[in-house]
Amino acid sequence: MVTGATTGIGEAVAYQVAEMGLSVVLVGRRADRLEAVAENVRARGGKATPINCDIGDPAAISALFDEVRNRVGGLDVLINNAGVGYQSAIGTFDTTELRQVLDINVLGTALCIREALPFFDNRLDTAIVTISSMAAHRIPAGGYGMYAASKHAVRAIMEALRLELAEIRSPTKVANISPGTVATEFHKLFVRTGEDPTEALPFQRLTPDDVADAVAYLLSTPSHVQINEMLIRPTGQIG
Ligand SMILES: NC(=O)c1ccc[n+]([C@@H]2O[C@H](COP(=O)([O-])OP(=O)(O)OC[C@H]3O[C@@H](n4cnc5c(N)ncnc54)[C@H](OP(=O)(O)O)[C@@H]3O)[C@@H](O)[C@H]2O)c1
Repeated sequence: MVTGATTGIGEAVAYQVAEMGLSVVLVGRRADRLEAVAENVRARGGKATPINCDIGDPAAISALFDEVRNRVGGLDVLINNAGVGYQSAIGTFDTTELRQVLDINVLGTALCIREALPFFDNRLDTAIVTISSMAAHRIPAGGYGMYAASKHAVRAIMEALRLELAEIRSPTKVANISPGTVATEFHKLFVRTGEDPTEALPFQRLTPDDVADAVAYLLSTPSHVQINEMLIRPTGQIG
């Protein structure tokens, strides 16, 4: 299952895991985009099940996993990728936007993990990968505070999950990928202007495929090898 599979990193991950031979459940809110991504997967010889779901809605997440149980019959890999951010200062943030960031990035991720674990049942070849951010490791200046808070929380949840699974010797892999700047629609939403400020950066941004390659690598290590944290910056990104 790839959440946030309609564009950007999630879309690239969906193609990558489908090429690895996994049947992929595509999750997102834009039904037309989900269907288009599913068609692309099928055109490449893969199997895709698009399921419409708002990851910011706990009831919708329960329904999503029920649908997976009924339509797909099982789950081996969860890629928590759905996420949003809004530029805002701590002194002036908008309550509705902050709730959305926390509901999708933090609660949504945690609920997907909770719902996925019974499917995994401590089996071999299962994994939970979360697309976190470099903002989980330091606080960028320029209104990233609330977004960074959400990604720090996600990283804490993933490390706690790793400890809990290690405690019971579960073979389920747990990985947190923290990309620097990736060229996606994310930044236009972040600044709310429709213009992407990262286009002017003095280095070549990562592509969604660069992150998808990292996901593929994490999933393909032998079962005794777990890469739990991966920091991926564009060459030349300072912060
Ligand atoms: N771009 C970067 O520089 C960068 C850097 C580090 C980390 N990240 C992280 O990478 C992840 C993917 O971002 P991206 O850069 O690929 O951005 P993107 O192109 O804007 O994609 C975001 C994806 O998340 C989905 N999504 C958002 N809210 C959702 C919701 N409530 N329910 C279900 N799906 C939802 C979107 O689908 P719908 O709108 O169709 O629902 C879309 O598929 C995010 O977690 C982001 O924080 C991005």
